[in-house]
Amino acid sequence: MDHPPKGEIMASKLWGSRFTGNLSQLAEKFTYSISYDSKLALYDCVASIAHAEMLGSQGIIHKKDASAIVRGLNQLINDIEAGRFQHDPAAEDIHSDIQSRLKKLIGKPADCLHTARSRNDQVVTDVRLYCLNHLENIQALLDGMQIAIVKFADKNADVIIPAYTHLQSAQVVLLAHQMLAYVEMLERDKGRLEDAARRTSMNTLGACALSGTTLQTDREFVTKRLGLLSTAANSMDAVSDRDFLVEIVSAIAITGMHLSRICEDLIIWVTSEFDFISLDDAFCTGSSIMPHKKNPDVLELVRGTSARFPGRLMELLVLMKGLPLTYNRDMQMDKPALFDCVDTIEDMLALMAELFGGITVKKDVLAARVTAEHFFSVDILDYLVRKGATYRDAHDTVGVMVKECLDRGKKIADLPVEQLKKYSSLFEADVKYLLNPEVSIKGKKSFGSTNPLMVRAQINIWKKRLK
Ligand code: ARG
Repeated sequence: MDHPPKGEIMASKLWGSRFTGNLSQLAEKFTYSISYDSKLALYDCVASIAHAEMLGSQGIIHKKDASAIVRGLNQLINDIEAGRFQHDPAAEDIHSDIQSRLKKLIGKPADCLHTARSRNDQVVTDVRLYCLNHLENIQALLDGMQIAIVKFADKNADVIIPAYTHLQSAQVVLLAHQMLAYVEMLERDKGRLEDAARRTSMNTLGACALSGTTLQTDREFVTKRLGLLSTAANSMDAVSDRDFLVEIVSAIAITGMHLSRICEDLIIWVTSEFDFISLDDAFCTGSSIMPHKKNPDVLELVRGTSARFPGRLMELLVLMKGLPLTYNRDMQMDKPALFDCVDTIEDMLALMAELFGGITVKKDVLAARVTAEHFFSVDILDYLVRKGATYRDAHDTVGVMVKECLDRGKKIADLPVEQLKKYSSLFEADVKYLLNPEVSIKGKKSFGSTNPLMVRAQINIWKKRLK
């Protein structure tokens, strides 16, 4: 945490006049939020412009003062956008910092800006604007990762892989089918963020400290000016609600869990034991002692870093659960948690999109891994059901047959038809066609299955949707 220099403290405070003594230096260090809430600078200016325009148009402050404020704030916005803005480490928070800069820029009219508002409604409005902006970023990054995965699926559309339950090899599927499972996960993530954005898009400015104001403000004006969907209908709820943050961080935590699972699959696939894929050197590191090693550290760190989100989510829930209405200073601590989650998920999504471009599929290895007969046991079971067996009988038949083959080191493909008929009279020679990975996937009929035509259709749907 930056530490504000001694002196000139009370004069710079938005609340200094009530006080004669200075805040203890340790207390300052502990309570100042400027080191992290400077991220809100842009949103603070944007919200203040809408507020000043409203004050001017309602005749609460002089029009020329409102214009001066807007001009000054636009100047600050230019600085922020050009990267020229450096927060003042001596300021208590970004609201105080912007206020005192404005005063330096335009003089006395700056003193009118805080009319009919308080930092309680100001801070939550800033945070809402920050969230809406970053929710858009995260949505775009999720799109980007989906696009990268669909591209990868499309490029490897004919590759068949073993799929797992209990991490035991189960059935064969198209690699693209598994990739599109990831795309579905990320689509739900977008839905959750979109939903959270609807509730975030509410104007809380004008609630003032907690009860509203005796001045004739126009809250709808500010809502429209900020492009928000609604106006908070209860001033007490407006300044004390942080549900939207809990929702956003919760949605981010779910996305993080998804990224972690995707990484886990890829980590397993790059092991020499599985050897399904290789990763571009750009996403791996070596070992300081074992010269042969190429480790998937990036994947591991995405998996590891995603542990932070549920931690931050718990932090927010615990932060809020004991707070009486309305504003409490505890709520300042919502920001480190929020900013950390937003920054981290944005980095992770951009990285993962890039990483999918660096995966090479080991087609020869995979072709040899999808021929084992156990992959087709369910297809043989379905075959018997089509021929009239009950599901239970068919399951028993195939179970016994597979066990005996395994015990005797035999393959179903090598058993003569007469021997197959000992397991079930329904078996004909054609059952042996089923012992083939391509036949297995092509034979799938149900919607949403790994049938290549259906997977192709899904790839095309996603390509169109994500354009
Ligand atoms: N830095 C504070 C926060 O982040 C701003 C609001 C301060 N309000 C107050 N009444 N002390 O929540």
